[in-house]
Amino acid sequence: KILANTLFLGKEVIYLPVCHSTNDLAMDMLKSGKVTEGSIVIAGEQTHGKGQRGNVWKSAPDENLTFSLVLKPSFLNAMDQFDLNIMVSLAVVEALAYFDLELLVKWPNDIYTKNGYKVGGILFENVISKGKVSGSVVGIGLNVNQRTIGLDHATSLINISKRQFDLKTVFDLIVHRIEQNYIMLKSGKHKQLKESYLKQMYLFNVWSKYSDENEFFGKIRGIADDGKLIIEKESGMINFYAFKEVRFI
Ligand code: BTN
Repeated sequence: KILANTLFLGKEVIYLPVCHSTNDLAMDMLKSGKVTEGSIVIAGEQTHGKGQRGNVWKSAPDENLTFSLVLKPSFLNAMDQFDLNIMVSLAVVEALAYFDLELLVKWPNDIYTKNGYKVGGILFENVISKGKVSGSVVGIGLNVNQRTIGLDHATSLINISKRQFDLKTVFDLIVHRIEQNYIMLKSGKHKQLKESYLKQMYLFNVWSKYSDENEFFGKIRGIADDGKLIIEKESGMINFYAFKEVRFI
Protein backbone atom coordinates (compact mmCIF):
# COMPACT_ATOMS: atom_id res chain seq x y z
CA LYS A 1 0.00 0.00 0.00
CA ILE A 2 2.78 2.47 0.82
CA LEU A 3 4.12 1.97 -2.67
CA ALA A 4 1.18 3.19 -4.71
CA ASN A 5 1.51 6.80 -3.61
CA THR A 6 1.36 8.31 -7.05
CA LEU A 7 -0.14 11.66 -8.03
CA PHE A 8 -1.89 10.69 -11.23
CA LEU A 9 -0.43 7.53 -12.72
CA GLY A 10 -2.51 4.47 -11.95
CA LYS A 11 -5.18 6.41 -10.06
CA GLU A 12 -7.50 4.56 -12.39
CA VAL A 13 -6.54 0.95 -13.10
CA ILE A 14 -8.72 -1.25 -15.25
CA TYR A 15 -7.99 -4.92 -14.63
CA LEU A 16 -9.17 -7.48 -17.16
CA PRO A 17 -8.63 -11.21 -16.59
CA VAL A 18 -8.42 -11.66 -20.37
CA CYS A 19 -8.16 -9.15 -23.16
CA HIS A 20 -7.02 -8.88 -26.77
CA SER A 21 -4.12 -6.48 -26.21
CA THR A 22 -3.95 -3.88 -23.45
CA ASN A 23 -2.26 -1.52 -25.94
CA ASP A 24 -5.16 -1.79 -28.38
CA LEU A 25 -7.67 -1.26 -25.61
CA ALA A 26 -5.80 1.72 -24.15
CA MET A 27 -5.47 3.22 -27.64
CA ASP A 28 -9.24 2.90 -28.21
CA MET A 29 -9.80 4.65 -24.90
CA LEU A 30 -7.31 7.39 -25.78
CA LYS A 31 -8.91 7.96 -29.16
CA SER A 32 -12.39 8.07 -27.69
CA GLY A 33 -11.18 11.11 -25.73
CA LYS A 34 -12.85 9.84 -22.57
CA VAL A 35 -9.79 8.70 -20.73
CA THR A 36 -7.82 10.73 -18.20
CA GLU A 37 -4.06 10.85 -18.32
CA GLY A 38 -2.49 8.20 -16.14
CA SER A 39 -5.14 5.52 -16.60
CA ILE A 40 -3.77 2.00 -16.80
CA VAL A 41 -5.14 -1.15 -18.38
CA ILE A 42 -3.73 -4.39 -17.01
CA ALA A 43 -4.55 -7.91 -18.15
CA GLY A 44 -4.10 -11.33 -16.61
CA GLU A 45 -3.83 -12.70 -20.11
CA GLN A 46 -3.68 -11.24 -23.63
CA THR A 47 -4.92 -13.21 -26.60
CA HIS A 48 -3.17 -10.94 -29.11
CA GLY A 49 -0.30 -9.35 -27.21
CA LYS A 50 1.77 -7.16 -29.51
CA GLY A 51 5.53 -6.77 -29.51
CA GLN A 52 7.85 -4.46 -31.39
CA ARG A 53 8.58 -4.99 -35.09
CA GLY A 54 5.12 -6.53 -35.53
CA ASN A 55 6.02 -9.46 -33.28
CA VAL A 56 3.63 -11.32 -31.02
CA TRP A 57 4.09 -10.88 -27.25
CA LYS A 58 3.49 -14.16 -25.45
CA SER A 59 3.11 -14.34 -21.71
CA ALA A 60 1.82 -17.11 -19.43
CA PRO A 61 -1.57 -16.15 -17.90
CA ASP A 62 -1.39 -14.52 -14.46
CA GLU A 63 2.33 -15.11 -13.99
CA ASN A 64 3.68 -11.92 -15.50
CA LEU A 65 2.89 -8.25 -15.96
CA THR A 66 1.20 -7.03 -19.12
CA PHE A 67 -0.18 -3.51 -18.89
CA SER A 68 -0.50 -0.24 -20.76
CA LEU A 69 -0.41 3.33 -19.54
CA VAL A 70 -2.15 6.26 -21.14
CA LEU A 71 -0.11 9.46 -21.21
CA LYS A 72 -0.86 12.84 -22.75
CA PRO A 73 2.59 14.38 -23.05
CA SER A 74 1.56 17.31 -25.22
CA PHE A 75 4.52 19.30 -23.80
CA LEU A 76 6.74 17.04 -25.93
CA ASN A 77 7.62 17.89 -29.54
CA ALA A 78 7.13 15.00 -31.94
CA MET A 79 10.85 15.02 -32.74
CA ASP A 80 11.63 14.47 -29.05
CA GLN A 81 9.31 11.51 -28.60
CA PHE A 82 12.21 9.17 -27.91
CA ASP A 83 12.44 10.89 -24.51
CA LEU A 84 9.43 8.77 -23.55
CA ASN A 85 11.32 5.58 -24.38
CA ILE A 86 14.21 6.80 -22.27
CA MET A 87 12.19 7.75 -19.21
CA VAL A 88 10.01 4.61 -19.18
CA SER A 89 12.67 1.98 -19.83
CA LEU A 90 14.93 3.65 -17.30
CA ALA A 91 12.07 3.65 -14.78
CA VAL A 92 11.54 -0.09 -15.19
CA VAL A 93 15.22 -0.82 -14.59
CA GLU A 94 15.32 1.60 -11.64
CA ALA A 95 12.21 0.09 -10.07
CA LEU A 96 13.59 -3.43 -10.34
CA ALA A 97 16.84 -2.36 -8.69
CA TYR A 98 14.69 -2.16 -5.53
CA PHE A 99 14.81 -5.99 -5.54
CA ASP A 100 18.60 -5.91 -6.06
CA LEU A 101 18.11 -6.89 -9.66
CA GLU A 102 20.78 -5.39 -11.88
CA LEU A 103 19.07 -5.04 -15.19
CA LEU A 104 19.96 -2.95 -18.20
CA VAL A 105 18.16 -1.31 -21.08
CA LYS A 106 18.92 -2.68 -24.48
CA TRP A 107 18.32 0.10 -26.98
CA PRO A 108 15.73 1.19 -27.65
CA ASN A 109 13.64 -0.21 -24.80
CA ASP A 110 14.18 -3.86 -23.98
CA ILE A 111 14.82 -4.86 -20.40
CA TYR A 112 17.89 -7.06 -20.37
CA THR A 113 20.13 -8.98 -18.03
CA LYS A 114 23.84 -8.20 -18.13
CA ASN A 115 24.50 -11.50 -19.89
CA GLY A 116 22.09 -10.83 -22.70
CA TYR A 117 18.70 -12.30 -21.78
CA LYS A 118 15.50 -10.37 -22.32
CA VAL A 119 13.10 -10.10 -19.37
CA GLY A 120 10.78 -7.47 -20.74
CA GLY A 121 9.91 -5.11 -23.50
CA ILE A 122 7.98 -1.91 -24.05
CA LEU A 123 5.78 -0.96 -26.96
CA PHE A 124 5.11 2.75 -27.49
CA GLU A 125 2.26 3.87 -29.69
CA ASN A 126 2.23 7.64 -29.95
CA VAL A 127 -0.39 9.95 -31.36
CA ILE A 128 1.06 13.08 -32.95
CA SER A 129 -1.00 16.18 -33.41
CA LYS A 130 0.22 19.60 -34.52
CA GLY A 131 3.83 18.56 -34.05
CA LYS A 132 3.27 17.48 -30.44
CA VAL A 133 2.86 14.09 -28.79
CA SER A 134 -0.78 14.52 -27.84
CA GLY A 135 -1.12 10.96 -26.63
CA SER A 136 0.97 7.91 -25.89
CA VAL A 137 0.08 4.34 -25.06
CA VAL A 138 2.98 2.72 -23.25
CA GLY A 139 2.68 -1.06 -23.17
CA ILE A 140 4.91 -2.94 -20.79
CA GLY A 141 5.43 -6.68 -20.83
CA LEU A 142 7.62 -8.10 -18.07
CA ASN A 143 8.34 -11.77 -17.47
CA VAL A 144 8.06 -12.12 -13.73
CA ASN A 145 7.07 -15.53 -12.34
CA GLN A 146 7.10 -17.60 -15.53
CA ARG A 147 9.80 -20.26 -15.34
CA THR A 148 9.70 -21.67 -18.84
CA ILE A 149 9.75 -19.03 -21.53
CA GLY A 150 10.46 -21.18 -24.56
CA LEU A 151 12.35 -18.50 -26.48
CA ASP A 152 16.09 -18.17 -26.99
CA HIS A 153 17.65 -15.35 -25.00
CA ALA A 154 14.54 -14.72 -22.94
CA THR A 155 14.18 -15.18 -19.20
CA SER A 156 12.16 -13.94 -16.24
CA LEU A 157 12.71 -12.35 -12.85
CA ILE A 158 12.08 -15.66 -11.08
CA ASN A 159 14.74 -17.39 -13.17
CA ILE A 160 17.41 -14.81 -12.54
CA SER A 161 16.73 -14.32 -8.83
CA LYS A 162 15.36 -17.72 -7.74
CA ARG A 163 12.49 -16.09 -5.91
CA GLN A 164 8.80 -15.52 -6.52
CA PHE A 165 7.51 -11.95 -6.86
CA ASP A 166 4.27 -10.36 -5.80
CA LEU A 167 2.95 -8.92 -9.08
CA LYS A 168 1.14 -6.05 -7.37
CA THR A 169 4.32 -4.91 -5.61
CA VAL A 170 6.34 -5.01 -8.82
CA PHE A 171 3.56 -3.16 -10.64
CA ASP A 172 3.32 -0.45 -7.95
CA LEU A 173 7.05 0.12 -7.92
CA ILE A 174 7.26 0.44 -11.70
CA VAL A 175 4.27 2.77 -11.90
CA HIS A 176 5.63 4.95 -9.11
CA ARG A 177 9.01 5.24 -10.82
CA ILE A 178 7.51 6.01 -14.21
CA GLU A 179 5.54 8.83 -12.65
CA GLN A 180 8.70 10.26 -11.08
CA ASN A 181 10.59 10.13 -14.38
CA TYR A 182 7.62 11.54 -16.25
CA ILE A 183 7.51 14.51 -13.89
CA MET A 184 11.26 14.99 -14.46
CA LEU A 185 10.76 14.91 -18.22
CA LYS A 186 7.90 17.37 -17.97
CA SER A 187 10.06 19.75 -15.97
CA GLY A 188 12.71 19.74 -18.69
CA LYS A 189 15.21 17.32 -17.19
CA HIS A 190 15.57 15.17 -20.30
CA LYS A 191 19.38 15.44 -20.26
CA GLN A 192 19.55 13.95 -16.77
CA LEU A 193 17.26 11.09 -17.78
CA LYS A 194 19.35 10.37 -20.85
CA GLU A 195 22.55 10.35 -18.82
CA SER A 196 21.04 7.80 -16.43
CA TYR A 197 19.78 5.74 -19.36
CA LEU A 198 23.28 5.61 -20.88
CA LYS A 199 24.70 4.46 -17.54
CA GLN A 200 22.29 1.53 -17.52
CA MET A 201 22.56 0.72 -21.18
CA TYR A 202 23.35 -2.78 -22.39
CA LEU A 203 26.68 -2.89 -24.29
CA PHE A 204 27.38 0.83 -23.90
CA ASN A 205 30.98 1.55 -24.87
CA VAL A 206 31.79 -2.14 -25.32
CA TRP A 207 33.01 -3.73 -28.55
CA SER A 208 30.39 -6.09 -29.85
CA LYS A 209 29.04 -7.57 -33.06
CA TYR A 210 26.24 -5.85 -35.01
CA SER A 211 24.79 -6.07 -38.44
CA ASP A 212 23.40 -3.41 -40.78
CA GLU A 213 23.80 -4.58 -44.36
CA ASN A 214 26.92 -6.42 -43.20
CA GLU A 215 28.20 -7.80 -39.93
CA PHE A 216 30.68 -5.58 -38.15
CA PHE A 217 32.30 -4.85 -34.80
CA GLY A 218 31.26 -1.67 -33.16
CA LYS A 219 30.88 0.22 -29.92
CA ILE A 220 27.73 2.02 -28.83
CA ARG A 221 28.66 5.66 -28.28
CA GLY A 222 25.32 7.16 -27.40
CA ILE A 223 21.88 8.07 -28.60
CA ALA A 224 21.00 10.99 -30.83
CA ASP A 225 18.16 13.35 -29.89
CA ASP A 226 15.87 11.60 -32.35
CA GLY A 227 16.58 8.27 -30.64
CA LYS A 228 18.98 6.90 -33.23
CA LEU A 229 21.67 4.60 -31.93
CA ILE A 230 25.20 5.94 -32.42
CA ILE A 231 27.74 3.21 -33.13
CA GLU A 232 31.43 3.63 -33.81
CA LYS A 233 32.79 1.07 -36.22
CA GLU A 234 36.29 -0.43 -36.06
CA SER A 235 37.32 1.90 -38.85
CA GLY A 236 36.49 4.84 -36.58
CA MET A 237 33.44 5.71 -38.64
CA ILE A 238 30.42 6.88 -36.66
CA ASN A 239 27.03 5.63 -37.83
CA PHE A 240 23.50 6.57 -36.77
CA TYR A 241 20.87 3.84 -36.84
CA ALA A 242 17.10 3.92 -36.68
CA PHE A 243 15.33 1.03 -34.95
CA LYS A 244 15.10 -1.37 -37.87
CA GLU A 245 18.45 -0.51 -39.42
CA VAL A 246 20.73 -2.40 -37.05
CA ARG A 247 20.70 -5.72 -35.26
CA PHE A 248 22.63 -6.87 -32.20
CA ILE A 249 24.32 -10.20 -32.86
C1 BTN B 1 8.64 -5.97 -27.23
O1 BTN B 1 8.51 -6.47 -28.34
O2 BTN B 1 9.67 -6.12 -26.58
C2 BTN B 1 7.54 -5.12 -26.65
C3 BTN B 1 6.60 -5.94 -25.87
C4 BTN B 1 5.44 -5.16 -25.30
C5 BTN B 1 4.40 -6.08 -24.71
C6 BTN B 1 3.36 -5.36 -23.94
S1 BTN B 1 2.38 -6.44 -22.96
C7 BTN B 1 1.26 -5.14 -22.59
C8 BTN B 1 1.11 -4.33 -23.87
N1 BTN B 1 0.05 -4.84 -24.71
C9 BTN B 1 0.51 -5.35 -25.85
O3 BTN B 1 -0.19 -5.88 -26.74
N2 BTN B 1 1.84 -5.21 -25.91
C10 BTN B 1 2.36 -4.53 -24.73
